[in-house]
Amino acid sequence: MTSIGTPLSARATRVMLLGSGELGKEVLIALQRLGVETIAVDRYAGAPGHQVAHHAHTITMSDPDALRALILAEKPDLVVPEIEAIATPVLEALEAEGVVRVIPTARAARLTMDREGIRRLAAETLALPTSPYQFCDSLAELQAAIDAGIGYPCIVKPVMSSSGKGQSKIDGPADVKKAWDTAMAGGRVSRGRVIVEGFIDFDYEITLLTVRALGSDGRVETHFCDPIGHIQVSGDYVESWQPHPMAPAALQRAREVAQAVTDNLGGQGLFGVELFVKGDEVWFSEVSPRPHDTGMVTMTTQWQNEFELHARAILGLPVDTTLKSPGASAVIYGGVDAQGIVFDGVAEALRVPGTELRLFGKPESFLKRRMGVALARHANVEVARRNAKLAASKVRPHAK
Ligand SMILES: Nc1ncnc2c1ncn2[C@@H]1O[C@H](COP(=O)(O)OP(=O)(O)OP(=O)(O)O)[C@@H](O)[C@H]1O
Ligand SMILES: [Mg+2]
Repeated sequence: MTSIGTPLSARATRVMLLGSGELGKEVLIALQRLGVETIAVDRYAGAPGHQVAHHAHTITMSDPDALRALILAEKPDLVVPEIEAIATPVLEALEAEGVVRVIPTARAARLTMDREGIRRLAAETLALPTSPYQFCDSLAELQAAIDAGIGYPCIVKPVMSSSGKGQSKIDGPADVKKAWDTAMAGGRVSRGRVIVEGFIDFDYEITLLTVRALGSDGRVETHFCDPIGHIQVSGDYVESWQPHPMAPAALQRAREVAQAVTDNLGGQGLFGVELFVKGDEVWFSEVSPRPHDTGMVTMTTQWQNEFELHARAILGLPVDTTLKSPGASAVIYGGVDAQGIVFDGVAEALRVPGTELRLFGKPESFLKRRMGVALARHANVEVARRNAKLAASKVRPHAK
């Protein structure tokens, strides 16, 4: 697809986002700028992406009938998953019937919708290095897996969860039951399955944004962004920066691992490949076949941010992953459980040199809900980190 129609006309190029949070919102804005007609879907009304799209729908995307009916009613040219909890068999069926194209592919959406498909693909099919792991369906199985070789310390995660929900580290036998209970309470579906992973004592972790886009010969080419360093607290990203310095051998290995995974998943679009690094050794952790939360930093560091790269790649347009300036991002949490909160301190935040803010516009705040992000650019990435955190700390959300 290299021609783009006029939005809201019979010849419009129509793209549907499944999931319209802060990441989807930015993809929608990037598509809008290219004259695409956009359809934002989320599970609740007034989601960030709903606020910037031509059309907004509220459905349960894990409900196969509701999802199929909406896609058939809207007939978009492309369906772009932005979240994991989607009835992916519907996407596979509609793709096979030739009704829609799914980004990057319906198979990639299925394999990455929980931790099992992608982990087995990476470790067992592609033989990439990962943490040692076992899937368990009960507390007894979890204990047996640890005793049989995973050992301590280890990490337990619900098979279906993100942003660290239900995840905990086990340091010794006394923590096992608590970790199981935490996983059962924090998983997205009641199915009681977890992954237990041996703890990797990495030096640092990165997200390697990897783009599959068409070259001038019409074939897919792989492009890499500069590595993004990040810090996770309780499995949730709080800070990221780009570039993260890497030894040449480690960077090359990271690119090989990212290339192997994204080649297999296929299609066109941007992927967030999460990797652990120790010396020149690289472990695959997981991959999002879509923009990544730690990649929000690219809104200030790259000529084409990760959302623009995704928009271009899915439309068959050329991409440029060049860095514009080193920079950093820091998350702004809600800090309160309330509807319709107010953000004070915005001017003070923006007085920190070289900073920008994104307030996502989520209608409801939770204590630990990500409501915004501060971005900072500076030739020195450490200064950028400090400024991003300083700007984020100036923003004071409150319920009044
Ligand atoms: N095996 C491991 N060894 C060491 N640290 C780990 C391991 N698994 C996860 N972590 C830490 O926990 C973080 C979150 O883990 P993971 O990415 O698997 O969960 P997630 O819920 O999908 O998080 P997100 O959605 O924010 O990416 C990782 O970025 C890493 O910091
Ligand atoms: Mg992760």
